[in-house]
Amino acid sequence: MTSKVTTRPLRVLQLTDPHLMASADGALLGVNTRDSLDAVIAEVLRSHGQPDLILATGDLAQDGSEQAYRVLGGRLGAFSCDSAWIAGNHDHATRLNTVAASYGANHRHIVRGGWQFILLDSSVPGKVFGELVETELDFLADTLEQHPDLPALVTLHHHPVDIGAEWMKEIGLRNREDFWQVIDRFPQVKVVLWGHIHQIHEQQRKGVQLLATPSTCIQFTSGSRKFSVEDQAPGYRWFEFQASGNFKTEVCRALDFEFELDQNSSGY
Ligand SMILES: [Fe+2]
Repeated sequence: MTSKVTTRPLRVLQLTDPHLMASADGALLGVNTRDSLDAVIAEVLRSHGQPDLILATGDLAQDGSEQAYRVLGGRLGAFSCDSAWIAGNHDHATRLNTVAASYGANHRHIVRGGWQFILLDSSVPGKVFGELVETELDFLADTLEQHPDLPALVTLHHHPVDIGAEWMKEIGLRNREDFWQVIDRFPQVKVVLWGHIHQIHEQQRKGVQLLATPSTCIQFTSGSRKFSVEDQAPGYRWFEFQASGNFKTEVCRALDFEFELDQNSSGY
């Protein structure tokens, strides 16, 4: 007699660009970033329930303050699973990593549900653009080399492809050719995921699904020539990964979150 073992998919939540601040009143273009994160977390619990893993993909703090990272750790207490945090251009990477370690959220290679998750730090102190230094690229290559049999999701903060927005051309991953040279050597890479662009982006590249996700606070207008925000609700990305290597993903928004955008701003 044969019995068919069915395992449920691994549920992974991506939260990105919460831009939290030390002050409880901290707002970005009129949007209180703690309130918008709270609305997104409530939406996750309402629409999807508890995830098995959370990926927090940069710009976790707007002000790089320790307090902001502690607020994030506290808010993620709404979930009963592990999280993993990486830095974006607004972060203070050292402070972020110190607080992340106190929440067990500083792991860079996570194996779960027949998949592996590799987290890279593309932040460059004092710069908006991103870069993967040699040790990051070596870490990526070594990890993929050691685990050839597990389908992989690789995540970083900055966009490693052109996303069709003129003002974001210069603030993506600078040494993207070096990144793709590594990725192209490893067919087990199925997904490359990022934050930073505060909007949905989905495309295919040589069999790899490339994905970006709305921020948990303000949204940038897609395809815009210059800096521009749009009146879209904050959101998150949800994944369900099968051990077979297949996966499903979708973006959801906290549509009931009420906010008034300050449209006169020329930057963030
Ligand atoms: Fe951001």
